[in-house]
Formats: sequence, structure tokens, C-alpha cells
Amino acid sequence: MIAPSVLAANFSHLAADFKMVNESEADWFHVDVMDGSFVPNISFGMDIIKVMKSLAEKPLDVHLMIVQPEKYIERFRDAGADVITVHYEACPHLHRTLQQIKATGAKAGVALNPHTDASLLEPIIEDIDLVCVMSVNPGFGGQKFIYSAIPKIRRLKEIITIHNTKTLIEVDGGVGLQNAEKILQAGADVLVAGSSVFKSENPKATISKLKSLDFNTFRV
Ligand code: DX5
Ligand code: ZN
Repeated sequence: MIAPSVLAANFSHLAADFKMVNESEADWFHVDVMDGSFVPNISFGMDIIKVMKSLAEKPLDVHLMIVQPEKYIERFRDAGADVITVHYEACPHLHRTLQQIKATGAKAGVALNPHTDASLLEPIIEDIDLVCVMSVNPGFGGQKFIYSAIPKIRRLKEIITIHNTKTLIEVDGGVGLQNAEKILQAGADVLVAGSSVFKSENPKATISKLKSLDFNTFRV
């Protein structure tokens, strides 16, 4: 699956960029929420997500880069989030927070910073709908892919296979046509792509190319 990250969209033409993604082969909209505390950047909150929801014809995959996400889960769900992902590093009571997300009807995701070991999720993997492997330090779009994400994806795939769960692996940060195939081969299910889609000459065609890699990988 492909989830264009709207952080890289043009905010003065949000409706046009959403229309492009609606008409493309993309699967989800990836929506980055930053609080200036968990990460050194601030993006947007619920009111903007409500606007995005009204423009989106595909699910909203909301990535919360915030401290104490448990305070806001219901409000993000009300704003239109279909997947709600919290950071492992921001959740001392992760199991409880995941149940809280599921109680709203949303899918529950956990994101791992580059330094966080995949094995830490093993005891809780059955409760996770999606693991988001951060392949950059969260906070900004347009950064370089950190290659240690690749063995981490493989390790997660192993854990998911051993426990026989339907958990999806998402990879977020620095993903583009130059590395997508390697990422998919390691076991990723969802590619988040911000700059590589929105800053390309033909975003719809780039999505389509990313999608066809996906297809080819599953065929071999
Ligand atoms: C980084 C965000 C990413 C970001 C990806 O903190 O979580 O979703 O928007 O952007 P690119 O694809 O440009 O690295
Ligand atoms: Zn993200």
C-alpha cells in the first residue's frame, strides 16, 4: 500500500493535492501530527484534520508525534482518523493506549524511532494493527533514509510470522523510488512517501510507479 504524507503537500492548495491523491492509486493519506515537544517541530491539529477528512476519499492514517497521546485519542478519532499511531517512546502504558484506540473503532498503530529495538514489541504484537518503522528521526519531511530500518523490518516480519498476526508494517521517512523495492523485499506492507511524491514532477505517476513496484514484489 502507498500512503502519501500530506506534510509535503501544498497547504495553499490542499483541496487540489487531496484530489490528486483521491484520483491516484494511493491507498491512504498519511497525516503527521507534531507537538513541538516529542519532536522539534509543530504541524497541525484536529481542526485541520477535519478539513482533510472532508476532502479525503481514502482512509486517514494519523501519525501522532506527540507526548501523552492518550489525552487526545477520542478527539483525533472524531476528527476523522481511521488509523491512529502512537509512539512507543511516548507511551509508558502502551497496552492500555492501544485498547483505548481500538475502543474508538480506529485501527491501532505503534511507531518506533530509529533507535528503538523491534523486539520490544514482541510481547504486545497481537494487540497491534500496524507498526510504523521510522526510517528518519521524526519531526521533518525530506530527510535521508536510515538504512538500519531494513533489518528492523525483517525482524518485525519474523515476529509477526511467529505470532501469526495480521499486523501491517509501515515504513516512514525518506522513502522513494530509489529504495522502495528493498523496503518491500524486507517485508513492508505500507510505504509512506512525502517529498518523493509531492515534490516530484508528476505526483500521480510517481504513486503509480511505487504501486507497480509493490505489485512486482508480490509476483516474485
Ligand atoms: C517524519 C514524518 C514523515 C514525513 C515523511 O517525521 O513522520 O511522515 O512526512 O516525509 P518524507 O517522505 O519526505 O521523508
Ligand atoms: Zn509520519
